[in-house]
Amino acid sequence: MDTPEKEFIRYTDPYRVYGDKAVMKIDHTLRVRKLSEDIAESLFLPAEDIRLAAVCGLLHDIGRFEQWRQYGTYNDSKSVDHGDLGAAVLCENNLIAGFAETDHEVILNAVRYHNKYALPETLNERERLFVNIVRDADKIDILRMYADGTLISRTHGTAVSPAVYRSLLRQVNIRSCDICTKADAAALHLSFVYGLNFRRSFILLKQDECLNQFIDRAAEEAESEELKAQLEELRPLISGYISRKAEDL
Ligand SMILES: [Fe+2]
Repeated sequence: MDTPEKEFIRYTDPYRVYGDKAVMKIDHTLRVRKLSEDIAESLFLPAEDIRLAAVCGLLHDIGRFEQWRQYGTYNDSKSVDHGDLGAAVLCENNLIAGFAETDHEVILNAVRYHNKYALPETLNERERLFVNIVRDADKIDILRMYADGTLISRTHGTAVSPAVYRSLLRQVNIRSCDICTKADAAALHLSFVYGLNFRRSFILLKQDECLNQFIDRAAEEAESEELKAQLEELRPLISGYISRKAEDL
């Protein structure tokens, strides 16, 4: 059996016919693989677990390709849960056959739960560790893509709705079902910061000034004065939170 990276390329190559939509997910995946490895290293995990974290990152979005082929969208609420689909894809295509059986559930659960609002109590400590590494890595890359303009929040003249805004001020993660306005979708991505688990994740966000860039860009796109004011109120709260977590988590 080839390395997971080669298996991944073999599996995803046919989906390149979908152009930028597929390439974007392949590029995202490779960055999440690297970030997962970086976070695992920061935790001083043994070499084989650093490798396992990288593999979980590599495979986390494997469901995205079939999601696009079958439904033509990456919106889970309009198609299918891509974490669940990814776990099914791994089993159907034998993509984890080359791993020790003891790691199968770790990988499957990292893929299945990387995108869920909360983790089930049934996960054991090891499964929880790897899925949390991937969840952090995924969120960091998504925030960076909004910060550098690869992804754009179109807020369409709206402001963040009161309930979602209160959640942001209380520093809690926002549920996608609470989203009412286009600006709420941008707020949901900002709230990713409150779902991060590891000190290294905060250090990475602090180092590249990612959140300031995210807010700058969202403010540029914002058509309503109310949204601009909300973003400026949130800026010091969020950057203060990142700094505190980067220093003493
Ligand atoms: Fe995902």
